[in-house]
Amino acid sequence: MDRYAVVGNPIAHSKSPQIHAAFAAQTGQALSYEALLAPLDGFAATVAEFRAAGGRGLNVTVPFKLEAHALADRLTPRARAAGAVNTLAFGADGVLGDNTDGAGLVRDLSHHHGCNIAGLRVLLLGAGGAARGALLPLLQAGPAKLTIANRSADKAVALAREFAAAGGSPLDGCGFPSLAGRRYDLVINATAASLSAEVPPLPPGLYSDGALAYDMVYAKEETPFMRAARLDGAARVADGLGMLVEQAAESFALWRGVQPDTGPVLGALRRALA
Ligand code: ATR
Repeated sequence: MDRYAVVGNPIAHSKSPQIHAAFAAQTGQALSYEALLAPLDGFAATVAEFRAAGGRGLNVTVPFKLEAHALADRLTPRARAAGAVNTLAFGADGVLGDNTDGAGLVRDLSHHHGCNIAGLRVLLLGAGGAARGALLPLLQAGPAKLTIANRSADKAVALAREFAAAGGSPLDGCGFPSLAGRRYDLVINATAASLSAEVPPLPPGLYSDGALAYDMVYAKEETPFMRAARLDGAARVADGLGMLVEQAAESFALWRGVQPDTGPVLGALRRALA
């Protein structure tokens, strides 16, 4: 049976084995998928061992996405742009590194939230790894404009400069205060603020009529960002559980050439969270 796994540290909490087992059952693919704990100084050795034992591919999570990027022999354009790899595929011609996080976000928005980015005014909050990972797929989805805003404005400005040539959409970077008076149809929180129950200090009045506020993290209850967005007038709010399922589906499709049906898997995960 073909072997796959997710590798990280810590890893016990990962929902990837459950998600991929559901995809495999649904599509009739004979494969196994396990969770691998790699020592913090032993990522490359863990990958080599898994590959030598017949492993076909790996998902990579915190804190190894940069090391996976360095380890790959070849990178997809979206992995190169992200500067990080969450999916490795082992073939006769070496190790392919991909990054399915941004595509997972874009697919979650369109498939599960009726939100097609083409023509929208989009605000991306944050300029760290999570924001960078989403940028190329977001730009390729054709927003009317995309603004990157970050607590440290210089990082947002630098990221916008770096990606200016990547898509046809106007792209700019700024600090949070510069958002005053601007309105957006989609606001995506890619900061780490939710992880410490904080909310980026945004000026009021950001949301256009019908706007969606999307937090890349997920939780049993609405995140502080989602609650703050509602108070500021966002018509709809969403967390990142669908992104988790969709990035997994993109990895599954890369490995197996089959696109799973994510709806039932997302529904089961949501019910299990409640
Ligand atoms: P990740 O890989 O999750 O993106 P990261 O690369 O460390 O993690 O980036 C963290 C991001 O969250 C940064 O954009 C950071 O802003 P700064 O660049 O100004 O540090 C942002 N961030 C973290 N805590 C925040 C908070 N309480 N409010 C607003 N932004 C925050």
